[in-house]
Amino acid sequence: MRLSRYFLPVLKETPAEAQIVSHRYMLRAGMIKQASAGIYSWLPLGFKVLKKIENIVHEEQQRAGHIPMLMPTLQSADLWRESGRYDGYGEEMLRMKDRHGRDMLYSPTAEEMFTDVFRSYVKSYKDLPLTLYQIQWKFRDEIRPRFGVMRGREFFMKDGYNFDLTKEDALHAYNRHLVSYLRTYERMGLQAIPMRADSGPIGGDYTHEFLVLADTGESEVFYDSKVTDISLGKRDIDFDDVAQCQAVMDEFTSLYARTDETHVEAEFNEVPEDRRRVARGIEVGQIFYFGTTYSDKMGATVVNDQGDHVPVHMGSHGIGVSRLLGAIIEASHDDKGIIWPEGVTPFHCGIINLRQGDDAADAACESLYSALIAAGLEPLYDDRNERAGGKFATMDLIGLPWRITVGPRGLKNGVVELTSRKTGESVEMPPEQAAAKVVEIYASL
Ligand SMILES: Nc1ncnc2c1ncn2[C@@H]1O[C@H](COP(=O)(O)OP(=O)(O)O)[C@@H](O)[C@H]1O
Ligand SMILES: [Mg+2]
Repeated sequence: MRLSRYFLPVLKETPAEAQIVSHRYMLRAGMIKQASAGIYSWLPLGFKVLKKIENIVHEEQQRAGHIPMLMPTLQSADLWRESGRYDGYGEEMLRMKDRHGRDMLYSPTAEEMFTDVFRSYVKSYKDLPLTLYQIQWKFRDEIRPRFGVMRGREFFMKDGYNFDLTKEDALHAYNRHLVSYLRTYERMGLQAIPMRADSGPIGGDYTHEFLVLADTGESEVFYDSKVTDISLGKRDIDFDDVAQCQAVMDEFTSLYARTDETHVEAEFNEVPEDRRRVARGIEVGQIFYFGTTYSDKMGATVVNDQGDHVPVHMGSHGIGVSRLLGAIIEASHDDKGIIWPEGVTPFHCGIINLRQGDDAADAACESLYSALIAAGLEPLYDDRNERAGGKFATMDLIGLPWRITVGPRGLKNGVVELTSRKTGESVEMPPEQAAAKVVEIYASL
């Protein structure tokens, strides 16, 4: 993309309504525009990152054997009456009537819809295990939408639902989700710690929230600092291997790590004092095993090998896809702007031409630009007729991890400058070498 032809409405002023840094930078970098309270238009740069994050979530879900599909956002109230949640859900549910006076709603989550699809087609235990998921817009009429995409009313969520014959199988599905979520967040450059959470009115011991540590997080968290030393990394996972998934689950959840809702002071005090941490975190996902709650109410049964009809064991598992943009920025920025992790950056590399119109500089930029594209990367070439300071400020604000700076003076010595957004470190090298270096960095991800 050439910046002169892109749509990047960068703001000079810091918008007054934005209280936290991710919201400020998303507005200033021209990523989102508020349409109404808690509802945003996704401008090209924000949309690009949203799609990158969505794509990682899809890849990791499918790696775990989970199957993508898509439910409607507008749903009939009838299904929700069956589960008993239509009346119970409260003011957060956006309700409406169609022209025939039928009660409709904008889906805040989709247990009912998935359970209904399941019961319509699946009749035998032989078709299990099954995990279906979607990445779809949700609406919750939050009383206090705030912090931009972090607590929106309309937000993009991955929600997955497992259907299993036994509790044991469903707990393997739970573990599979935990493992796949760990890799998902790590690919986004995030450390998200699974913490034991409150299972609410449904009850049960099996729910974990994934929290990214950040001062602006809405949840208070308590943890043993040793949990921050663990990472999944690139280890090979066989998602059908029950013992292996259980081992990862145990490794990541044995140390004390809880949100305020499940925190127990006495147990926390057993953690060595120098490792006890009280901090704040952003919830970027949650996994939940809830047994036969929905299958009982909605008649989602299969015939087992004895010929009996038994309700399936279910769980639901969510990732806050749009919230993740905010969480990543909270975790990775400086006073000049965003610092995108390589896994989610909207463009792989910026190219800054210090002297637009200079033949040598223009030619060098063009050949860098085509070399990066030929290697399968997306460069953003700042080819505007602007002074260098303005170009640097924009590039720093939008946070591309790598920048190649090209100017007539360097070119006389045969070099351009490759700069890391994160460390600020610049190295001079021939243009071909700079392009090769950037290609190599992304190939190693
Ligand atoms: N209002 C919201 N705005 C943005 N993301 C949200 C919002 N509510 C929930 N999410 C994201 O969706 C994920 C799954 O939702 P869920 O666990 O059902 O939400 P909650 O815990 O708020 O009831 C959450 O972990 C969070 O990351
Ligand atoms: Mg939650």
